[in-house]
Amino acid sequence: MAAGTGTAAVDVAVIGAGAAGMMCAATAGRRGRRVVLIDHATKLAEKIRISGGGRCNFTNRDAGPANFLSANPNFCRSALARYTSQDFIDLVTRHRIAWHEKHRGQLFCDESSEDIIRMLRAETDAAGVSWRMPCSVTAITRNVPASQTAPDADPSGFPTRTGFIIETSHGPIHAGRVVIATGGLPIPQIGATDFGLKIARQFGLKIIEPRPALVPLTFDAAAWKPFVPLAGVALEVDIRTGEGKKAPRFREDLLFTHRGLSGPAVLQISSFWEPNTPITIDLAPGLDLAAALLDAKPGNRQQVVTVLSGLLPRRLAEQWLVAHGDLWPGLATQRLADVPDKTLRALAASLASWAVVPSGTEGYKKAEVMRGGVDTRGLDQQTMEAKTVPGLHFIGETVDVTGWLGGYNFQWAWASGVAAGQAV
Ligand code: FDA
Repeated sequence: MAAGTGTAAVDVAVIGAGAAGMMCAATAGRRGRRVVLIDHATKLAEKIRISGGGRCNFTNRDAGPANFLSANPNFCRSALARYTSQDFIDLVTRHRIAWHEKHRGQLFCDESSEDIIRMLRAETDAAGVSWRMPCSVTAITRNVPASQTAPDADPSGFPTRTGFIIETSHGPIHAGRVVIATGGLPIPQIGATDFGLKIARQFGLKIIEPRPALVPLTFDAAAWKPFVPLAGVALEVDIRTGEGKKAPRFREDLLFTHRGLSGPAVLQISSFWEPNTPITIDLAPGLDLAAALLDAKPGNRQQVVTVLSGLLPRRLAEQWLVAHGDLWPGLATQRLADVPDKTLRALAASLASWAVVPSGTEGYKKAEVMRGGVDTRGLDQQTMEAKTVPGLHFIGETVDVTGWLGGYNFQWAWASGVAAGQAV
């Protein structure tokens, strides 16, 4: 990776060479802008590399504004409409990267997420983007006090009295415009930082409180003890949180862990979950458990645990009855025919609407994304530029736009990167 030194002058400095940053730099470079891409990491695009289990779920065919959370839900509309998942599929196809659809519109590389990294690298090379990597940024300041009015550039396009000075470990850079693409807080062990949030605060932008999202949920150790033996059990569930018809709800797989719950269902709902509130889980979705038990009851000499094991994963059935031993002592070994209807209905209800209050999440070490970030009400939705700081743009995960699980977050990175790249 070329790492220049000394003072440099560019039209655009993109800080963060991840998904959004590379997309933005390539788009701006193709428009003839002199672009420098700066990243502090030694290895390029680690998040893309580890994404999708190493195969990068690079987009979702059906990505639309409804698949994103934000304090300002309409903000993402424009960028998503101008750069769609089909646009990214076309790019991937032009680079002859083989891909497949897994389920629900989720598109993955056939081979490896390295293909996507190589593609983006090739796009930036073709666009004449220069690199500083590894290179750390120590400060960003405006070239002149914001109150002074001055032309953006001299006749040759060199940024003169406006723009920004970026102090880096490889010397200062004068840039007409700066794009912050340093991502979110998850997985600090591979280089995630709060740089984007700090810069936003420095320039007076508001932040929507960040927190881990798409993250496993944890429970108080004592409360979780009865469910610890279920670690490793996976099953499809219906999961929801919140009240009312519009409360988010997903039908996905759930995984029991030693500390709590994980799997796609839980990651999805974690983005919506509010501390100290319950999540409600139907462990037998699409099945009327009460009816199934009552229908099977007449003359049935099988033990309840045996019958229940025919309707649910065996370990879950067994442990569920153990965990609720206080409520229904001896129920597991009772003959089904001898159990009162009321008890069977209560047992079914406990499984069909299991309401549990997580104590927290596994945090940024395990989260796939950060919820919150730069408040989009301070940004222009066409250009991603800060309304009060001309020339300063924010894209990707740093911004308060958070996608569901399933390729949506990369689609936001591509779309917001292109939106800024077309504007800078
Ligand atoms: P991204 O994190 O990609 O890039 C930020 C860049 O900024 C990094 O290169 C970093 O080194 C650099 N940087 C940070 N601080 C800096 C500083 N102070 N100075 C200089 N550089 C700095 N999404 C999806 O749609 N499909 C998927 O399959 C997955 N899978 C997945 C798995 C796992 C384990 C995780 C953690 C996340 C995912 N995601 C995902 C989410 C996806 O990876 C994420 O939303 C995008 O990478 C965000 O793109 P950005 O470009 O905004 O940040």
